[in-house]
Amino acid sequence: MFMNNDLANEIRAKVDIVDIIGERIPLVARGKNLFGVCPFHDDSNPSMCVSREKQIYTCFSCHATGNVFTFLMNYEHIDFKTALKQLGDKVGINTSGIHIEKKVSKYDKLYDAYNFSVKYFQNNLSSPVGKKAKEYLKKRGIDDNVIKEFEIGLSLESRDDLTKLLTSKNYDLATLNRIGLSSDDHDIYIDRIMFPLYDVSGQTVGFSGRIYKDVDMNKYLNTKETEIFKKGEMLYHYHIARDECRSKNSVIVMEGFMDVIRASTIGIRNTVALMGTALTKEQISLLKRLSPNIILCLDGDDPGVHATLSIGETLLKEGLEPKVIPLPNPEDPDSYIIKNGKDKFIGLLENALNFSDFKINKLKESVNFRSDEETSNYINKVIEEASKLTDPIRIEVILKRLAKEFDIGYNTLEMRLNALNTKKEVKQVADITIPHKKSSNKDKYIKAMEQVIYFMFYNDFAITQVEREHLVFPTEAMRSLTSEIIYYYNKYGSVNIADFYTYIQDKENILTLYNEIIAGDYLEKTTKDELFLYFKVIREYGRKQEINRLTNLMKKEVDPLEQAKIVERIRKLRLGE
Ligand code: UTP
Ligand code: MN
Repeated sequence: MFMNNDLANEIRAKVDIVDIIGERIPLVARGKNLFGVCPFHDDSNPSMCVSREKQIYTCFSCHATGNVFTFLMNYEHIDFKTALKQLGDKVGINTSGIHIEKKVSKYDKLYDAYNFSVKYFQNNLSSPVGKKAKEYLKKRGIDDNVIKEFEIGLSLESRDDLTKLLTSKNYDLATLNRIGLSSDDHDIYIDRIMFPLYDVSGQTVGFSGRIYKDVDMNKYLNTKETEIFKKGEMLYHYHIARDECRSKNSVIVMEGFMDVIRASTIGIRNTVALMGTALTKEQISLLKRLSPNIILCLDGDDPGVHATLSIGETLLKEGLEPKVIPLPNPEDPDSYIIKNGKDKFIGLLENALNFSDFKINKLKESVNFRSDEETSNYINKVIEEASKLTDPIRIEVILKRLAKEFDIGYNTLEMRLNALNTKKEVKQVADITIPHKKSSNKDKYIKAMEQVIYFMFYNDFAITQVEREHLVFPTEAMRSLTSEIIYYYNKYGSVNIADFYTYIQDKENILTLYNEIIAGDYLEKTTKDELFLYFKVIREYGRKQEINRLTNLMKKEVDPLEQAKIVERIRKLRLGE
């Protein structure tokens, strides 16, 4: 329970959810609502409805619903307190004094194992056994501040030290094996420099261990995929980059976490690392949230250039043309900064290329311009690149450059461009149809129950009638949800649907049901007579259930006298129908 619902409600009332969501995703007005592409599932249609009147959002497709706080929490992967502070700052309400209990997660025990391991590895590094590792780090220009900031540690040569410690803290081997801290009864990480890997909220959920002696082993050993470590759903350093990217208005994407660590030593922290170069859908959506201005700064070797081209293309298809910082082969940001220093790197950053220019430069490198065929192929490819862009000025610049360079008429090039464009299907905003809430295939009883609960949000008398009539709902979730509504109403005198989200955000047993009902296709207003019709349907359901229960009971009953009693009870229930 939060102690600060009142403060949260005050902040919520002062901001407009339409502004907050609108700053992050484009919204189009339709009638009294606004629509946008839902960021909480993979979609390209505007399935998310934002209601200025109700101050909530609802996705008709994935059923994500909530108020301005839940939007920010889910969109930016921040906790309630941070969302509250962000909005509080915006409207001049101080939230520093508030106390919020940490949300309980079913993974807490697993997180604790990781938190303990981080501390343990850190202690090893700062103890005498860590001398060699420290020297290695120092040689790489990683000092104590950096070690502290990135919580770098050391695993020991002993093959079971950590496993023993954790089992003595009541972790069973099966769990430790499952989450990638042990293998059978021994440690996974042996004598490696340990880099914690964080999930989007900053919780350590894995490690990458690097060799530091001259040994013939894989350079890095990473935690396997587990229920808390999902490589495709995270970006290294995301939780730090989140604030930095907002102030710098860009995000720099690198390959390895060492690059991110190095960049931080020259004060550049709007960075994330991919850790393996294939970009997933989830990672694209994370990047979008950091900033629309994405700068790729991958390694300067062939695989790095290849990855830049393929990631750039993927982002371009998403309508996000990135910039590129091309590094000389074979440098990575880490080695480049070490060799050339801060100012040179910032120079590269300031002169980052547009992705299409980078691609055109790369195309050019392999062309033999003495061959007419290769030349015209190249020109066609450049026009094709230009056709992927939306900015007409950029397109014109590219074509003019081509015309001049190869002494071809601008019109000829433009004709080719237009031919390419007409082939493409252009999706016009005006053509996008707003989807409607789909009525579900739930049976009439469940629909009636959910409708009554829905009425409770918009008709105070529905709340008092449900309470007075002792209407009984068949599922635990429905009973909890209705009794929370009644409790809230009696305490606050009304139920504001947007504020109610804040109240129940930690009550996981009812949240799913609540979201489902809010996103459902239900009526808002009703009359008492209508309401009682719904009550009747719900009671009929109760009777049916009871008759079923009794019928089963009777089948098992051997005593004929008892059987007769049950039959009588069933008969009475039937009469009530
Ligand atoms: P790199 O080989 O570019 O790492 O791999 P790096 O950052 O330059 O490392 P240093 O400078 O040699 O210490 C980039 C990323 O690929 C993954 C790691 O996540 C690394 O950050 N990788 C690399 C592995 O998982 N295993 C390996 O053996 C190598
Ligand atoms: Mn490197």
